[in-house]
Amino acid sequence: MSRYLCIAVALIATLSACVMDLTRLKNDPVDFVRQVKPILEASCLECHQHQYEFAGLNLETQARAMKGGRSGPVIVPGAPHQSLLYKVLLLGHNNPVAMPPTPERMERENEQTLHDWIQQGAKWPEGVRLTPPQDWKKSRS
Ligand code: HEC
Repeated sequence: MSRYLCIAVALIATLSACVMDLTRLKNDPVDFVRQVKPILEASCLECHQHQYEFAGLNLETQARAMKGGRSGPVIVPGAPHQSLLYKVLLLGHNNPVAMPPTPERMERENEQTLHDWIQQGAKWPEGVRLTPPQDWKKSRS
């Protein structure tokens, strides 16, 4: 009997951990400066800024990011699945527009952060500017 109890307790513990994890992913408000900015800077800014504006897309400032690239806006606040900025992360790497254009996909957790940020309205605090990795030394030392 106690063996069954153990199994039951273990099951409940596992299930509730899963449920908690899901709600955490869904409901946590995303902080642009702390969570989104570092992801975009490390994975995207190398090629999407004033020096190398691939596909006409510059993600340095809110104004430029919201303007989008050669295909038009890439961020649709509230709708990650209509946002090219998010959709390109999900493309298979046999697709030339898969981003970042490295053999590895972005980590699942970072994809989720960008998803939630767009879903929650793509808030970008005024005046916050992203720094391309090429300029990290200059701006942070
Ligand atoms: C090594 C350079 C490089 C990096 C890093 C990079 N991109 Fe790109 N990006 C490109 C190039 C080149 C294109 C054009 C691809 C094509 O059409 O063949 C592009 C195109 C795009 C487009 C399409 C824009 C439009 O209007 O058509 C989006 C959106 C995009 N990138 C988002 C991202 C995101 C988000 C990241 C980071 C996760 C990222 N890119 C990282 C080089 C890069």
